[in-house]
Amino acid sequence: MKKKSILKFKSMAAQGEKITMLTAYDYPMASILEKSGIDTILVGDSLGMVVLGYDSTVPVTMDEMLHHAKAVRRGAPNTFVVVDLPYLSYATTRDALKNAGRLIKEGGADAVKLEGGREYVEIISFLTKSGIPVVGHIGLTPQTVTQLGGYRIQGKDIKSATKLLQDALSIEEAGAVMLVLEAIPAPLAEKITEETNIPTIGIGAGDKCNGQVLVLHDMLGLFEKFVPSFVKQYELLGVKIEAAIKQYCEEVKGLVFPSQEHSFPLNEEVLKEINKDK
Ligand code: KIV
Repeated sequence: MKKKSILKFKSMAAQGEKITMLTAYDYPMASILEKSGIDTILVGDSLGMVVLGYDSTVPVTMDEMLHHAKAVRRGAPNTFVVVDLPYLSYATTRDALKNAGRLIKEGGADAVKLEGGREYVEIISFLTKSGIPVVGHIGLTPQTVTQLGGYRIQGKDIKSATKLLQDALSIEEAGAVMLVLEAIPAPLAEKITEETNIPTIGIGAGDKCNGQVLVLHDMLGLFEKFVPSFVKQYELLGVKIEAAIKQYCEEVKGLVFPSQEHSFPLNEEVLKEINKDK
């Protein structure tokens, strides 16, 4: 399969074909996603919560993002991969260029994603002019969840809805190639999608965005601490994995596993020789 490009995503959006995006953090999942034909993969800093066990995305480091981005790239060599810039790695244009450059050059990212509205116009424009494709992310921005007053829907009143619309327009003007809209009312996401010319990717933002993204561990039932209401769980793999592991433990203790089928036999002559002193 040929790797999709930003131009392809633009034309899909123009033709009303939805763009599919899911997160991945490691080689096996990335290869399954690529085999499934997903349009694009996000190595999100949700990594911190669903894989590394932190309480938020704030502690995630550049080294951690790079480590996982490289694994995803190895698993999905032919898929467009977006990698998150972690918290405080893009506070200045200098840091943003250095860190985004590493995600592209070392991590194999096709684009980087950063959270924030028009405050980041200068950074987005600087990265874009430096040749780094940037994906914006507005609405519920987990890196600044404390300032937002918790994991809650954004843009419900006139002031915040207007700000989000203006943020989207500024981010597009700064050169962003795509825009993630997280946890905002569906009609506001629809309005932003209509008003902008870059593909919008929704998560908890209704069905009118140009594409959808979910955290893989949420939609597969692999992260039980908290499941946002906008997540559809397509599987409960955590429960299945636990059952498989319990069965393994029972079979080892009950001498059921390994059976002959899972053991290597030894030639009679060799067996006699090693037992000859008995
Ligand atoms: O980190 C992440 O997984 C994300 C998605 C929730 C969009 O930013």
